[in-house]
Amino acid sequence: MYMLSKRDDSSTSPVNRNFYDDVMCGLRQTEKSLPSKYFYDAQGDVLFQQIMHCPEYYLTRCEEEILREQREDLAPCVSLGDDVTLVELGAGDGSKTFHLLQCLVSNYKHVTYHPIDISSHILKHLEADLGNKLPELSIDSYHGDYFEGLAALQQQGHTPKVVLFLGANIGNMPKAEAMQFCIRMRSFLNKGDKVLIGFDLVKNPRIIQAAYDDEAGLTRRFNINLLTRMNRELDADFNEELFEHYCHYDPTSGTCSSYLVSLLEHTVLFPEDEIHFDKGELIHMEVSQKYLPSEIDHMASETGFAPVKTFTDKRGWFVDVLWEAK
Ligand SMILES: C[S@@+](CC[C@H](N)C(=O)[O-])C[C@H]1O[C@@H](n2cnc3c(N)ncnc32)[C@H](O)[C@@H]1O
Repeated sequence: MYMLSKRDDSSTSPVNRNFYDDVMCGLRQTEKSLPSKYFYDAQGDVLFQQIMHCPEYYLTRCEEEILREQREDLAPCVSLGDDVTLVELGAGDGSKTFHLLQCLVSNYKHVTYHPIDISSHILKHLEADLGNKLPELSIDSYHGDYFEGLAALQQQGHTPKVVLFLGANIGNMPKAEAMQFCIRMRSFLNKGDKVLIGFDLVKNPRIIQAAYDDEAGLTRRFNINLLTRMNRELDADFNEELFEHYCHYDPTSGTCSSYLVSLLEHTVLFPEDEIHFDKGELIHMEVSQKYLPSEIDHMASETGFAPVKTFTDKRGWFVDVLWEAK
C-alpha cells in the first residue's frame, strides 16, 4: 500500500512560506547561506541521480558495494523474528537500499519499508521502482521532513525498531548539528532499537575535492538549480549566469563546503525583499563532513547509542555503522 502524506509541492502557502522564510534567513546573514534541503525539487532529484552515477562521486558506489555484497550479514542485524520494519530517513531513490530489501523479502515473511523524504517526486519514483522490482515488499512512504515523518509514524503506532540514514546524509550537517540530530533520533527509539548510518571517511583530499567538483559540471548544475527553483517558486529574479560553483575541501577539519560565487556586484529582487551581492561574494550551499572512525564511535557514545558493527567497502572509504540504542 502506497501512501503519500498530506503535503503537496504544488500547494502555495505553508510550504512556500517556509521556503521563503528559510531562504531569507540565510540570505540576510553577513555570510550568506541557503539550506541544502531545498536542492531536491523534481530537477534537483534528477541531477542528484546523475551525480550518483558520475565517475568522481565515489560515495554511491562504495555504499552500494556494502549493501549489495554484505546484505547477508546485514539482514539479520535489522530483523526481529519473521517481521521486519525499516524506516529510512532521506531515502532518495532507494536504489542502494534495494539490495538489503531484496535480501530481506526473500528471507522474512513480512517486510515493511517506511521511506521518509522531503521530495515527493523521488518518493513516487522510489515507489514505482521498488514496487515493480519487489512486489512482496509493503511500502508506506511519508513525504516531509525527517522528524515530522518519525513523529507521524509514532502517532500511527509504528514505533521504529530500525532506522536507516544512508548516503552520508549525516555529513550534510556540521558536526555539532549531527550530534543534536542523533540525540533527537534517539528520542524516537526504545532501548535495543537500531540505526544504520552511512558516514563518508576522511581520505586523500584530492579524491574528496573531485567528488564535489565533477568534470561534467553536474554538481554545478545541482547548485545553480536552487536559484532556478527560487525564481520559479518564490518569484525571485536570480540571473543564473551571474553565479559560479566553487567547492573547497579542508582536510584539517574534514569539511567539504560548496558555494555559489557572485561574479558581479548586483541585486536580486524577491516580491517583498531585495538581496545585494558584492562581486566575489559567496553563498554557502552545502557542507559534506568527512569523519575519522574514532569520531564516529565518539558520536555514538555521546548521543545514547553503542556501536555494534561496522560495514566497510573494500577500499575503506565509506562505512555503514550499526548502532544500538542504550
Ligand atoms: C544526498 S540525497 C541521498 C539519498 C539516499 N539516502 C541515498 O543514499 O541515495 C538526500 C536525500 O534526503 C532528502 N532530504 C534532505 N533533507 C531532508 C529533510 N530535512 N527531511 C527529509 N528528507 C530530506 C532529499 O530529498 C534527498 O532525497
